[in-house]
Amino acid sequence: MRNPFKILLLAGLVSCGMAQGNLAGAAPLVIKFSHVAAPDTPKGKAALKFEELAERYSNGGVDVQVYPNSQLYKDKEELDALQLGAVQMLAPSLAKFAPLGVQDFEVFDLPFIFPNYDALHAVTQGDLGRAMLAKLQDKGITGLAFWDNGFKIMSANRPLYLPKDFIGLQMRVQSSRVSEAQMIALGAVPQAIAFSEVYQALQTGVVDGAENTPSNMATQRITQVQKYATVSNHGYLGYAVIVNQKFWDDLPADLRAALEQAMAEATVYANGIAKGENEAALQRMKAEGLTTFHDLTPDELTAWKAALAPVADAMAPRIGVETLAAVRAATAAAD
Ligand code: LMR
Repeated sequence: MRNPFKILLLAGLVSCGMAQGNLAGAAPLVIKFSHVAAPDTPKGKAALKFEELAERYSNGGVDVQVYPNSQLYKDKEELDALQLGAVQMLAPSLAKFAPLGVQDFEVFDLPFIFPNYDALHAVTQGDLGRAMLAKLQDKGITGLAFWDNGFKIMSANRPLYLPKDFIGLQMRVQSSRVSEAQMIALGAVPQAIAFSEVYQALQTGVVDGAENTPSNMATQRITQVQKYATVSNHGYLGYAVIVNQKFWDDLPADLRAALEQAMAEATVYANGIAKGENEAALQRMKAEGLTTFHDLTPDELTAWKAALAPVADAMAPRIGVETLAAVRAATAAAD
C-alpha cells in the first residue's frame, strides 16, 4: 500500500534539511538513497560504494545516506517518494517504471532474452540503454546508470524440472506484466508481492514458490521456506539508478561532476561484482543444505525455452515492438 502521508511528511523534512544545509554553507547536502535489497547483495554493496566515492570526490560536500531493506519505502512507494523529492536516489528493478507509462524496461523481464552477460551489457551499457534511461526524463526522473543483479532461478516446495511441474503453483513475481505472463506460460498462477513480504508469503503458504537471483534468495533466507530450487537462469534482474531530476539539475556543476564520476566508478564496481556475488550466494545456499538445487539438463532447458518462447511476441505490443527489435539486434550482435 502506498502511504502518501508518510511520503509528504518525509518530503517536507528532507527539503527543510537541504535548505538549512545550503544556507549554512558548510553542512553537506544530504542524498537519501533508498532501496529494497539487503546490504550484502550486488545492489547493496554498490550503493555503499557510491556513498564512499561520492563523499570522497565531493570533499564532503554530500552526505549519502543509504537505506537498504525497504527501511524507508516498499516497492511501489519508492518512485512516488523520488518524484516528490522525499528521497533523491533509488535503484529500482527495471520493471518498476511501467506504472509511470514507460513500459520499454519490461523487455528486461522477458525469459531467455539475454544469452549471456556480453549481450546484456551491449544493451545496458550502450546507446540503447542510454536512450531507454532518457525516456524517464519527462517523468521528473534522471536515469544515471544500469546496475546488474543477475539471472534468476526458480524455487518451490516441489522439484521444478519441466514446465508441467509448475502447473497450478502460486508463484511470486515482482510487479511486472511480463513476469506474470512468464508464469502463466509455465502453467503457474502469478502473484505480485512486494519484495519485503516474500519470505512471509512463502512461509505462510500465500504462495508456493518464487523466482529471484541467488543473492536475493540467500539474503532473504528463502532457503528456510523452500525445499527445491532450479538453477534455470531464465530471466534477468537489474536496476536503473535514478535521481530526482530537479534535485540533480539544481546541483552546482562541480558537485554534479563529482557525483557523475562517483556513479561511473560505482557502476563499474557493481557490474564487476554482481556475477561473482550470485555465484557465491548459490554456493553458500548449497552448502547450507536446506534447499535441494537442480541444474537443468539440456533437454529440460529446451522444454523451458519452448514453453516460454511465446511470451516475447505476446508482450511485444506492450513493451514496444521497436524496443524489442532493438534489444534483439543488440544481443544478436554481441552473442
Ligand atoms: C524483487 O522484487 O524481487 C527485486 O526487484 C528486488 C530487488 O530490488 O532486488
